[in-house]
Amino acid sequence: MSQAFDVVVIGAGPGGYIAAIRAAQLGFKVACIDEWKNAAGGPAPGGTCTNVGCIPSKALLQSSEHFDHANHHFAEHGISTGAVKMDVAKMVGRKDTVVKQNNDGILYLFKKNKVTFFHGRGSFAQANAEGYDILVKGDKEETIKATNVIVATGSNARALPGADFDETQILSNDGALRIGAVPKKLGLIGAGVIGLEMGSVWRRLGSEVTVLEGLPTFLGAVDQQIAKEAKKAFDKQGLKIEMGVKVGEIKTSKKGVSVAYTTAKGEEVKLDVDKLIVSIGRVPNTDGLNAEGVKLKLDERGAIVVDDECRTNLKGVWAVGDVVRGPMLAHKAEEEGVAVAERIAGQHGHVNFNTIPWVIYTSPEIAWVGRTEEQLKADGVAYKAGTFPFLANGRARALGDTTGMVKFLADATTDEILGVHIVGPMASELISEAVVAMEFKASAEDIARICHAHPSLSEATKEAALAVDKRTLNF
Ligand code: FAD
Ligand code: NAI
Repeated sequence: MSQAFDVVVIGAGPGGYIAAIRAAQLGFKVACIDEWKNAAGGPAPGGTCTNVGCIPSKALLQSSEHFDHANHHFAEHGISTGAVKMDVAKMVGRKDTVVKQNNDGILYLFKKNKVTFFHGRGSFAQANAEGYDILVKGDKEETIKATNVIVATGSNARALPGADFDETQILSNDGALRIGAVPKKLGLIGAGVIGLEMGSVWRRLGSEVTVLEGLPTFLGAVDQQIAKEAKKAFDKQGLKIEMGVKVGEIKTSKKGVSVAYTTAKGEEVKLDVDKLIVSIGRVPNTDGLNAEGVKLKLDERGAIVVDDECRTNLKGVWAVGDVVRGPMLAHKAEEEGVAVAERIAGQHGHVNFNTIPWVIYTSPEIAWVGRTEEQLKADGVAYKAGTFPFLANGRARALGDTTGMVKFLADATTDEILGVHIVGPMASELISEAVVAMEFKASAEDIARICHAHPSLSEATKEAALAVDKRTLNF
């Protein structure tokens, strides 16, 4: 007799494992299937985010930032050191430990919440009277029964045609997080989130970094006042970013990788690098799920088609995270996972797509929520803007990190906050206040009237809200 579950989740990334835990909290009998293997062949739940995404990239960003501080900022505090050296193997080893702590944490949470974990690949075998038979192929093969299925199979890096990932010279995010020594010259294609984060890591460690971007506008989705400020900082750091290029032939040899490209001005250039990271976006992953076998509907990009509440075209089958429409972010996947579990329980799960924050973990960090000035103009919305520079914030000066600003956009008539955009220190943490404010439909005046601790970076948020009404106190 095969085991039967109320809810079977396929994929244990942030969308899947969180959905499984929430479903178990709601009293369902839950299984979660994930095929990711660690170096020893054991289970490594957590998906892209934990294994080759959010967590390892932030570990490397942290290590490289410490190195950069020791090299360039300690002296101004009166701290002198000998020559600062980076042991890359140790840095990568620490990153692996952080990843493993997260994998183990998820296995512990499954146990704590009585979620049955299967290590292997899950696929739809067939529909049955109550739901679906799900085939699990791991060390052994078995079929389990599911009344409800939540598909959370994530995404894979998009390859450039003619430049397949070999993960030694042409790297996806996977290989990019396993580079074993500082490359003298590093190339990246795509100046998006991964391009900037990974480019920053290796630039700080001494690589000559060139990022080739196809579009003419830097960070086109970001408020352009903020993007321009960030670009100035990246230029200063020596991150060479070429906009509006057309990438041509990519050749590998024993010497490295050669990338032919045409510049925005039409010049033909050849870039020779030791390693090339291709970070041009990600594609939804439904490999091996047997979607076609059960007629699960996919769109032209290969994403599972879902309605606003993550229902697919099949009764009892839901899909969340990177494998469906919307931003490819871990916290978006998690919110969808929670909402779906609650909907299965007959509750009113809810995800507000208008208040999903974005963060780019470079230095300075870039974070935003809501609409940009460009979007408000395009939408014909009358708005007021207020900005406050970190240069005028006492805590930022004490930290020695005064790059950037906080920017508020509020409705011209009602003063409701429509967007908050930050470039500067700890933007990733500061943005939460803006998310809460927007979720409660606060006005800029509401934030301006809240007491913020002194000295703190968050005072810049309060001052930017005051700036909307042209009454900053410290600038
Ligand atoms: P995934 O995390 O991709 O998980 C899917 C899981 O399903 C995987 O474990 C996979 O092995 C498993 N799977 C797939 N098919 C099957 C099958 N048939 N059977 C069994 N298992 C299967 N987002 C952020 O919000 N913040 C960040 O800082 C951030 N940094 C990132 C850095 C990098 C380098 C990358 C690449 C991504 C980053 N992201 C970040 C994006 C984030 O990783 C994704 O949005 C998130 O992981 C999506 O979660 P998910 O659950 O939808 O899918
Ligand atoms: P991205 O969409 O952020 O950026 C891709 C960039 O590549 C774009 O600027 C695009 O114009 C450019 N591009 C596309 N094709 C090109 C070509 N042929 N030649 C030159 N440039 C080209 O995608 P990225 O950086 O690969 O990251 C994937 C996703 O992972 C992100 O969109 C995000 O959802 C997630 N992520 C989130 C992070 C975070 O939240 N901090 C960190 C890293 C990734």
